[in-house]
Amino acid sequence: MKIVVIGTGYVGLVTGACFAERGNKVTCVDIDDTKINNLHKGILPIYEPGLEDLVKTNVEQERLFFTTSIADVIDGADLIFIAVGTPPGEDGSADLQYVLGVASDIGKHLTDYAVIVDKSTVPVGTADAVTAKIQVELDKRKLDTTFDVVSNPEFLKEGAAIEDFMRPDRVVIGAASDKAAEIMNDLYKSFVPNYQDIIIMGIRDAEMTKYTANSMLATKISFMNEIANLCDILGVDVENVRQGIGSDRRIGFSFIYPGCGYGGSCFPKDIQALIRTANSANYDAIILKAVEQRNNLQKYRLFEKIVDRYGKDLSGMTFALWGLSFKPGTDDMREAPSKIILHELIAAGAKVVAYDPASIEIARKELPKEWFEHGHLKLVEHQYEVFPDVDALVLVTDWKSFNTPDFERMKDLMKSHVIFDGRNQYQPKLMHKLGFSYLSIGRDATNG
Ligand SMILES: NC(=O)c1ccc[n+]([C@@H]2O[C@H](COP(=O)([O-])OP(=O)(O)OC[C@H]3O[C@@H](n4cnc5c(N)ncnc54)[C@H](O)[C@@H]3O)[C@@H](O)[C@H]2O)c1
Repeated sequence: MKIVVIGTGYVGLVTGACFAERGNKVTCVDIDDTKINNLHKGILPIYEPGLEDLVKTNVEQERLFFTTSIADVIDGADLIFIAVGTPPGEDGSADLQYVLGVASDIGKHLTDYAVIVDKSTVPVGTADAVTAKIQVELDKRKLDTTFDVVSNPEFLKEGAAIEDFMRPDRVVIGAASDKAAEIMNDLYKSFVPNYQDIIIMGIRDAEMTKYTANSMLATKISFMNEIANLCDILGVDVENVRQGIGSDRRIGFSFIYPGCGYGGSCFPKDIQALIRTANSANYDAIILKAVEQRNNLQKYRLFEKIVDRYGKDLSGMTFALWGLSFKPGTDDMREAPSKIILHELIAAGAKVVAYDPASIEIARKELPKEWFEHGHLKLVEHQYEVFPDVDALVLVTDWKSFNTPDFERMKDLMKSHVIFDGRNQYQPKLMHKLGFSYLSIGRDATNG
């Protein structure tokens, strides 16, 4: 099939590369000249395991192309995917200006039937707005070209995006026409072993499914964080509780790991957007509001433990920090808990030396310049380079290389042997045996 993917970010680039890998001819479009020029040179705008090789192979095989011009590629496309950002607007609702802008552009250049696919996460009713925008432009050109708009929300996880896209648990397609549903079915059938894993439903149902999935996962995280905080107060070890409930098949183990709160480009904005959707429908979404509130507070939890131990004034202290990205496997720092922790530590007078396996470049660009200029924050390229002369290690993101580090080496390098662990990575008993003071989330009972 001939496919156009508009928006070449985390979702667009992965979508384009994976469809090309299955033999389709794919052109990825972006308004960002630099991004497209770099992609022509084989330089990717994001870090995602396996993506560089996948892009390279498919470019070499002449199945994957890049351009900044929608006008040049719409003609003859069977499917046009919209995969641009839907950031939160000022009131927290999804800002649809990029999606609707692309819809107008499509309408300006469409000449033959195509399926227009909303891949971006968009609120219920957006497909109708996209249809209207395209139709307005076709009417201006006095064309009776037909088209279908379908919703095909994306469920990939950054850090495992290729695997998720190539072998999805399910593909959700919201379509109003049989013809569009059939074309989508043909496109995806090689990605799912079982045809039942392609779930076809109404367009609004599909739009709602994406928000519901993210809200459910965020709810599990906030719920478990709440339980962990309570465990700290009650003298209970949350790890035992987690194992005790996760083994119940009705509950399961995924998304019940306590920590510093969820971040990234999706959960925070999608929960907010669904709350705003509920508001507009005059419905008070009390659970969603609580999920968001718990998460905003949870990002301060590790810092609170630091203050409990050292007091509010941290002048003269230096902290090592491991993990800047919002989760392992990605360089994405959008809404990352590390940003709040860094801000609080520096505001309290501390210095920080930080390491992350993938986000150092992004951190240099995104974090306040004055932190670097005034020596509040230093970024290093090696995970043990954070240690000399630090008062404690603050572990924020559970990258694999932090799972079983060389504790003896750390002890040699650190001035004081204290670890604040926002991801409950280590066994408290082992830490105590090794001579570390170990403070983690929901395990104060075991911290000795
Ligand atoms: N990142 C994820 O893990 C993930 C997962 C599932 C769904 N989503 C959803 O997918 C959508 C895209 O997310 P993302 O993380 O890939 O965003 P992103 O910010 O990484 O990428 C968006 C891209 O769209 C481009 N763009 C903006 N306007 C354009 C236009 N008019 N024409 C062409 N390109 C344009 C931008 O330059 C940017 O490169 C969002 O709605 C998001 O909620 C994201």
